[in-house]
Amino acid sequence: MTDPVTIDDFEDAARARLSKMAYDYYRSGSDEEHTLRRNRDAWTDFELWYRALVDVSAPRLATTVLGTAVSSPILIAPTAYHTLADEGGERATARAAAASGSLYVASTLATTTLEDVAAAAPGAPRWFQLYVHKDRAFTARLVARAKAAGYGAIVVTCDTPVLGRRCADVRNGFSLPAGMVMANLVEILPPDLHDGAGSELARFVASRHDASVSWKDLAALAEDCAPLPLVVKGLVRGDDALAALDHGARAIWVSNHGGRQLDLAPSTADGLVEIVAAVDGRAEIYVDGGIRSGTHALVALGLGARAVFVGRPVLWGLGAAGEAGVVRVLALLNEELTRAMQLAGCADATGIARDLVRRTRLFPR
Ligand SMILES: Cc1cc2nc3c(=O)[nH]c(=O)nc-3n(C[C@H](O)[C@H](O)[C@H](O)COP(=O)(O)O)c2cc1C
Repeated sequence: MTDPVTIDDFEDAARARLSKMAYDYYRSGSDEEHTLRRNRDAWTDFELWYRALVDVSAPRLATTVLGTAVSSPILIAPTAYHTLADEGGERATARAAAASGSLYVASTLATTTLEDVAAAAPGAPRWFQLYVHKDRAFTARLVARAKAAGYGAIVVTCDTPVLGRRCADVRNGFSLPAGMVMANLVEILPPDLHDGAGSELARFVASRHDASVSWKDLAALAEDCAPLPLVVKGLVRGDDALAALDHGARAIWVSNHGGRQLDLAPSTADGLVEIVAAVDGRAEIYVDGGIRSGTHALVALGLGARAVFVGRPVLWGLGAAGEAGVVRVLALLNEELTRAMQLAGCADATGIARDLVRRTRLFPR
């Protein structure tokens, strides 16, 4: 691989190594992919009104999320099926996160069990992303396993009652290749998982995810998760964020699943603005979606996010060069954020002033 200079270079390198089915699965948004495009574009709807003559000789990226120390506010979002990107799979991602001082949120849909992910990087901070299954006893067992394996928080994803339609997956008849399996879910996998047309994942979600989940279930889940904090992922509305806090959430994660669920959902930058205003400092707010550079991350921090998460960039790093590729992706984003902070007159990622960011007035998209 020639040295990638941008996250898009990592995507090109990964694409060259991956099967078409895997690349399409990682890249796609839902339907016409408006929200996928909107997520990335929306960060450029803002301007960074930099300050001059600030001492930025020793910029600090280190911060905390729910009290956990991390080396940077750019962290790793949960994504499914890492073994499709590299044979090291989720273990490689977990080791890369640990080597980078980052936080890895392991997905329910990992191709490695949550216990094996934990064992790959003992002592490193990790959170577990949960889907609520129709089989509530099984859902409770996942939470108990995450607690036993030393995960520090449960992140419940609330934007996936059914799977968004990703057209390429339907066309490709997306399914996991022989030898790969949704490792956390072995006990509830339907025997006929591989039979049928279209996306295997869409069939799985339709048969096993609980589309009836509502606020009262969230309160019960928060109790089940205790003493671990519950983070609610997949919100874009201020009223939903307040309801989540009222039902036991400790932090809000603004996300539209990387534009893979409801097409024409708002960008997460716009969701972030709305949720920061509604929550008004009561809880930490995180955001993901379309963050492909340090300047995008700086806009998000200036808008009030405590941290940002990246999904596809990590998959591109993993697909391009395994564990080392993920380390390099995180290093690149951190380098870009450091430079952007210095140029903007910000010395500390935990104290980005809100007046740094203004919505652009000229040439709106
Ligand atoms: C290939 C892929 C798989 C994903 N799998 C999950 C998942 O299992 N659970 C989840 O909560 N979110 C999942 N997401 C959403 C990510 O957590 C995150 O919200 C999104 O990728 C952020 O957007 P970005 O890819 O533009 O950074 C997935 C996203 C992608 C691209």
